[in-house]
Amino acid sequence: MADEPASEVQLLRKHKAQLIDILSADADFVLQHADSRCLLSSHGYQQVKACRIPSEKVTELLDHVIQRSPEAAQGFLQLLKEQSLQETFPLLEFVKDLQVTTLSSDGGLLNRCGLRKGDHLCRTEDMDSDRVPLSDLSESLIDHSEGQRFLNETVKIIVEEVLQKGTDVKEKVCEWKAPEELALLLDLELRSTGEPEERLLQRVKDVAKYSVKTCHPHFFNQQFAGVDYHSLSGRFLSEALNTNLFTYEVAPVFILMESEVLRAMRRLVGWTEGDGLFCPGGSSSNMYAMNLARHRHFPDVKTRGLFGLPRLAVFTSPESHYSVKKGAAFLGIGTDNVVLVKVDEGGRMVPSDLNEKIMLTKSQGAVPFLVSCTSGTTVQGAFDPLDQIADICEKHKIWMHIDAAWGGSVLFSKQHRHLMKGVDRADSVAWNPHKMLSAGLQCSVLLLKDTSNLLKQCHSASATYLFQQDKFYDINLDVGDKSVQCSRKVDCLKLWLMWKAVGSEGLERRVDKAFLHVRYLVEQMKKRDGFTLLREPEFVNVCFWYIPPSLRGKEGNTDYQKKLAQVAPTIKERMMKQGTMMLGYQPLGNRVNFFRVVVLSPLVCQKDMDWFLDEIERLGKDL
Ligand SMILES: Cc1ncc(COP(=O)(O)O)c(C=O)c1O
Repeated sequence: MADEPASEVQLLRKHKAQLIDILSADADFVLQHADSRCLLSSHGYQQVKACRIPSEKVTELLDHVIQRSPEAAQGFLQLLKEQSLQETFPLLEFVKDLQVTTLSSDGGLLNRCGLRKGDHLCRTEDMDSDRVPLSDLSESLIDHSEGQRFLNETVKIIVEEVLQKGTDVKEKVCEWKAPEELALLLDLELRSTGEPEERLLQRVKDVAKYSVKTCHPHFFNQQFAGVDYHSLSGRFLSEALNTNLFTYEVAPVFILMESEVLRAMRRLVGWTEGDGLFCPGGSSSNMYAMNLARHRHFPDVKTRGLFGLPRLAVFTSPESHYSVKKGAAFLGIGTDNVVLVKVDEGGRMVPSDLNEKIMLTKSQGAVPFLVSCTSGTTVQGAFDPLDQIADICEKHKIWMHIDAAWGGSVLFSKQHRHLMKGVDRADSVAWNPHKMLSAGLQCSVLLLKDTSNLLKQCHSASATYLFQQDKFYDINLDVGDKSVQCSRKVDCLKLWLMWKAVGSEGLERRVDKAFLHVRYLVEQMKKRDGFTLLREPEFVNVCFWYIPPSLRGKEGNTDYQKKLAQVAPTIKERMMKQGTMMLGYQPLGNRVNFFRVVVLSPLVCQKDMDWFLDEIERLGKDL
């Protein structure tokens, strides 16, 4: 309630345009008087003072006073009535006629007492003994027309600033600012009173302006990029409906929809039955798999905890995602018990080494319970050989999980799904449509072959207030007890709407096109001096060093690697400060910093690939 604007605030807002006209005749004069009465914070004073144009200075001053507190607004109105101000600005005469009643500290309550559209405050007679106005209970706290107008304006800004400018190659990918400068520009502090609409809309614009445009065709930084308009509409719709995917009664549409999307994804894996869940990201999907694998081997762990368990061991490759280690730490397995299996030169797990390490671990008294292999490793985009790994998992009776968070979308492509040959032999698959399919963050699934309701056995807590057993509909639809979360966002709609819009064939085309772009990019790199591939890409990750002219032919020099390691960070700093593009780099094993470009956005065209290479050359030619 304290956040409601006070009546003085309303008066200032109502007469703002008129006050700007009048006070702009001597903006500094009014600022000094306001400051001498401590109506501004010191930061606010500096901000107002920094405005050069008088009308902007007065606007900033009024906005600051309005948003600071009802007391500041009240003090400002009193100031305007003072003789010195009245003499300097004769047109301020009208202020004297404004009837202002001093507010109590809960000015917000008074304000709702008929003051929204008028200038005069109601009096305390309208209030009951608890100082709550009787009329207050009959009114909603939300003004729909005001709220919807704001929403419409916000959507306009989103379309113009994020979706039009944000995808225009002539515009910047990011508007780099140092953190201190950005914090100052954004004025992030939260205050006791609300702000006027125009100020808030300016804030919406600022958020858009200073945020990275991940939809921009020159954003190659991460494994999410671009925009899909159907998926985005789905995201807006699920946000507006704001429901919780735990019971059929609150999310009837989405319970059925989630089940259908999971079924369709399982079909791509090659399973005609099974289970699954949308999870908050691939890391969580991987952790779920780890927990389920342990539960299948040791169901008592749910009730008895880790007490009495043997040492457990997980097997994965050093190029797998770090969430495997995080999961081991989180679930009490321990990162020391994550056994790293050798990879070949392409970053793929070596099955013979897996077998040897499992045997060795067993001989040391530990219990191997999970192999977490990867389809599409984060840096190199490698696909572990699933069929051979499945043979080993079957032999040792170990749960086989595939982290296909990145590469899973190849399952849409007839041409490329061979990369995941053997996927149907896994026990679980994690897959992030928010990555290669541009479904929007977050959209991640865990798919399970299990038909024994393992998810529920492992995670249920049977809360009687939510999952009543005597409901009037099929309680199997209340899927909420399968997850470790209580509240769970609706992540299926964005994928479902996009899939409906373009069909499996449309999604297949996107996957195939990304591969074609990569092939083109690699061909062009080979035609230019200075681009050295780490290896031929297996997927849509292209890992390469840019060798600037000064280092070419100097491979034998002792400081070559040291100098090469500095190239990528320097180019990255330049590209970000100029805002022209975003691209990631990293070292890997004994290989010094190299770039990883991931090409997945459906907005990218061939000319963006050419531009990309030109830009790297431009940014690095003098190094
Ligand atoms: C192979 C792989 N697995 C898992 C993840 C984690 O996914 P999320 O960021 O959704 O937690 C990533 C993310 O980069 C990944 O590349």
